[in-house]
Amino acid sequence: MDAAWPSSAYRLTAHRLFLCLFVWVALLAENREAWFCSPFPSGEGAGGRGHGAVDPFVREYRESNTMLTQVSSSVYCWSEIHGAARGEPYPWNSFVIRKNHRDGLVLVDPLPLSAEEESEIEAMGTPAHILLTCEYHLRESEAFRVRWGCDIRIHAAGAEYSEVLIDETYQDGDRLWDRIEVIHIPDAYHSDEVAFLVRGDGNTMIVGDAVCGGRKDRGIPDGEIWINAPEYVVAGLSGARESLRKLSGHSFQKMAFGHGSPILHAAGDRFTAFLEDDAAWAKLESEKAEKTNPASLEFIREMEARRSRGR
Ligand SMILES: [Fe+2]
Repeated sequence: MDAAWPSSAYRLTAHRLFLCLFVWVALLAENREAWFCSPFPSGEGAGGRGHGAVDPFVREYRESNTMLTQVSSSVYCWSEIHGAARGEPYPWNSFVIRKNHRDGLVLVDPLPLSAEEESEIEAMGTPAHILLTCEYHLRESEAFRVRWGCDIRIHAAGAEYSEVLIDETYQDGDRLWDRIEVIHIPDAYHSDEVAFLVRGDGNTMIVGDAVCGGRKDRGIPDGEIWINAPEYVVAGLSGARESLRKLSGHSFQKMAFGHGSPILHAAGDRFTAFLEDDAAWAKLESEKAEKTNPASLEFIREMEARRSRGR
């Protein structure tokens, strides 16, 4: 053996460490949403469709979960499963909304689509519009603009710093196609955060990052509502709670989330109960204090600076 060279085992370990570091950096750069929606950012990036390396557990789960799910008579959902590698699968979600006519489907926060999901959507009609709950949920919007010629729409507060061309903006209270009402909730998470109230079939409230549904990775049962990552809420939890009260002023039976399982019955009552549950919010404050870290503090500083510049 040549003593001037490390052993083959040592070289193999060093090579693996370098490879892991490279993959980790690449995933962080590419999948920024994972920072805010998962307590395990780099791991979630590895599990996402369209984000390079795909975890084999995620691939297996995905291949058995490639069809659209119907939320209401006009709202459908497709999902990307995260956390499966840890045995804690939970969905990230995107939505298809049917307007009054066959053509002109609306996509919300569009994640990548499987071939089967794409076929299902095209059987319903042609996507014409993409609505974003916040700029952070651009996801595959650019690709679908090319694919179907969709326009991309976002709240005016997010258009100013978006990395892509925004075709149209909306404001609080706008009613789109007599079907979807825009509700701006600026302190709930991101300053451009909105929820969409979809009229019909008991009404469906769609939210992005503001609150989540059941998440096995967080120990949140299906049917419950919680905050995705309280340490990243810029306005603080009291500000978020106040902003979210705007949603409880509306009537809705179903609630669907960017992250976590939807609630399909009595969702408005469930949401109001969550808002008024002082013990739950005290627990969230504890969770926030426990999880606050340099990355979340830096994010909050950056967002506050953006707001102070009038964006
Ligand atoms: Fe998100």
